[in-house]
Amino acid sequence: MRTAETDEEDMKPVCSLLALVVTLLLLTATSGNSKVPMNITAVLGHSVTFRCPSTHRDLVEGLYIQKVINDKDDLFINGFYKSRDMPVKPAYLRRTKVNKMELSMEMRNISVSDEGLYNCVAFDNKWEKTDISDILLKVTAEYSVPTITTDCSERKRGYGSAVQSCQLSCSAVGGYPQSTVRWVELNPSLTSIVYNWSSADNESKTWTINQTIMYNCDQPTNVSCAIGGTVSDTITICETESFPLVVITAIIIVLVFVLLLIFVVVIKCCCRRPPTSEDQAGRVDILLDDCHSQLQRV
Ligand SMILES: *[C@@H]1O[C@H](CO)[C@@H](O)[C@H](O)[C@H]1NC(C)=O
Ligand SMILES: *[C@@H]1O[C@H](CO)[C@@H](O)[C@H](O)[C@H]1NC(C)=O
Ligand SMILES: *[C@@H]1O[C@H](CO)[C@@H](O)[C@H](O)[C@H]1NC(C)=O
Ligand SMILES: *[C@@H]1O[C@H](CO)[C@@H](O)[C@H](O)[C@H]1NC(C)=O
Ligand SMILES: *[C@@H]1O[C@H](CO)[C@@H](O)[C@H](O)[C@H]1NC(C)=O
Ligand SMILES: *[C@@H]1O[C@H](CO)[C@@H](O)[C@H](O)[C@H]1NC(C)=O
Repeated sequence: MRTAETDEEDMKPVCSLLALVVTLLLLTATSGNSKVPMNITAVLGHSVTFRCPSTHRDLVEGLYIQKVINDKDDLFINGFYKSRDMPVKPAYLRRTKVNKMELSMEMRNISVSDEGLYNCVAFDNKWEKTDISDILLKVTAEYSVPTITTDCSERKRGYGSAVQSCQLSCSAVGGYPQSTVRWVELNPSLTSIVYNWSSADNESKTWTINQTIMYNCDQPTNVSCAIGGTVSDTITICETESFPLVVITAIIIVLVFVLLLIFVVVIKCCCRRPPTSEDQAGRVDILLDDCHSQLQRV
């Protein structure tokens, strides 16, 4: 018994330490749980509503929303406690509005710099925090309709099969987030990237994207390019040009002309074929016939 008592005595500090560790672990676990962010997206220039999920809705007497700048710093945005509004940062004064009934905050005229992690902190009438939720705001902006341009040059290969080598460019502006160029209906193994460029605007932080590729083809190919969610017009490259068609038409016209010429010449030759000894006699008859017909007309 004695030994057991001493053991118990010895265990006391260990137990309290364990309890502390367990408490800490639980705390981390609970705060870790609330760290699974709720994701919301906003379109550049439009508005978005931060809805604070609260499991203790009836107890909530106050609420504020802050932006997480880094692990230590938060930027208070807007909130209320009981019937009073909390002082709003001038930068957000015009753009934000808290809805006390719905425990939400509307933010207008969203810019790319609004993107990031936010906390929504709700508390009861004793200033005790009841809920802390994380809301991750993502901003999107549609790219302009891409401009597609082409510059093809012909490369002869073998017996008349002409391969064209086309330089295709695709560009669009004003999108977010950064995106890549996709070439619709082009065989990727036949394309090679010549130039790949993208840059973010200093002010709006939106992206301008420009890509140039080389593509070889020997038959008509319809091509368009897409950046983000927008698609360019479709253009046709490597057309069996209208040039041969013109040539074919010309050849036909010339042929017809030549045939006509030959026909005329042949007829003339038949009529005035040089006299042979056999039809010397007949010739007189023809001449006479000619004379007769001439006379008849007169
Ligand atoms: C929100 O997005 C992040 C990654 O961006 C993801 O880890 C998280 O699971 C998402 N949350 C929800 C609720 O979908
Ligand atoms: C929206 O915000 C941009 C800057 O982010 C500003 O230039 C523009 O004037 C704002 N528009 C409105 C209607 O407030
Ligand atoms: C083009 O550039 C963008 C951004 O710099 C990059 O994400 C993409 O992978 C590049 N594409 C190719 C094919 O190099
Ligand atoms: C954009 O930012 C860069 C570096 O921060 C600066 O050199 C450049 O002048 C800025 N351009 C404009 C148009 O403000
Ligand atoms: C895209 O790059 C091509 C090739 O360098 C260039 O000719 C064209 O002007 C660029 N377009 C834009 C919109 O920057
Ligand atoms: C290209 O598009 C045109 C018109 O949209 C269509 O008539 C033609 O068949 C298409 N050609 C190919 C090779 O898909």
